[in-house]
Amino acid sequence: MINPLVQDYAEKFSSPEDPLLKEVADFTYKNHSESQMLSGHLQGKFLEMGSMMIRPRRILEIGTFTGYSALCLAKGLTEDGLLHTIERRENDAATAKGFFDRSVYKEKIILHIGDAKKIVSELDEMFDLVFIDADKPGYIEYFNLVFPKLNKNGFIFADNIFFHGEAFEAEPKGKNGKAIKEFNGFINKRTDIEKMILTLRDGLYLIRKK
Ligand SMILES: C[S@@+](CC[C@H](N)C(=O)[O-])C[C@H]1O[C@@H](n2cnc3c(N)ncnc32)[C@H](O)[C@@H]1O
Repeated sequence: MINPLVQDYAEKFSSPEDPLLKEVADFTYKNHSESQMLSGHLQGKFLEMGSMMIRPRRILEIGTFTGYSALCLAKGLTEDGLLHTIERRENDAATAKGFFDRSVYKEKIILHIGDAKKIVSELDEMFDLVFIDADKPGYIEYFNLVFPKLNKNGFIFADNIFFHGEAFEAEPKGKNGKAIKEFNGFINKRTDIEKMILTLRDGLYLIRKK
């Protein structure tokens, strides 16, 4: 969705990826058939910066994939902070675990393997920051599950809010585009949150609980 000139310029004038993140990205681009799902350099930097600004004690990530975004978000955790991340595919979870174990956040990242809908309901935590980045038809359900577990002034970031432009169509054909369009309408109507869409990569909804 973003002009490649703008993207290249923004990447050039942003801090480079640290070596472990670059390794996660290179490994994923080389070995994974769905590597486009990885947040990548610029969005990863935003997740890091956002987390650094919020200084969360508890982070929840729904959709670990190969671990890139969790490693970015973990950078902002408080001294006693923890990040819970959930992945339903065992292969991806194993890849992510390999990278988490080599990072300084080894003790701070708790990886759950299984269906996020079940696992979120079972987590006995209150969160300061939640990153929703799993199956698109699940977004409204994830929001509803997570919202009661979000502290006042806590944030939800939700990814792929443009869904490659399908969200702008009057009637998106694909089930993911349709689900995202519904999610965006659902979020926009709510008055108990502050919200804005960041025009980064495929669109990122930033939501604050009032
Ligand atoms: C877009 S990728 C996540 C990308 C990752 N956050 C990053 O930026 O590198 C979505 C991931 O969510 C996982 N997923 C999809 N549905 C899920 C569910 N119901 N529970 C847990 N994980 C799920 C997929 O297996 C996939 O690895």
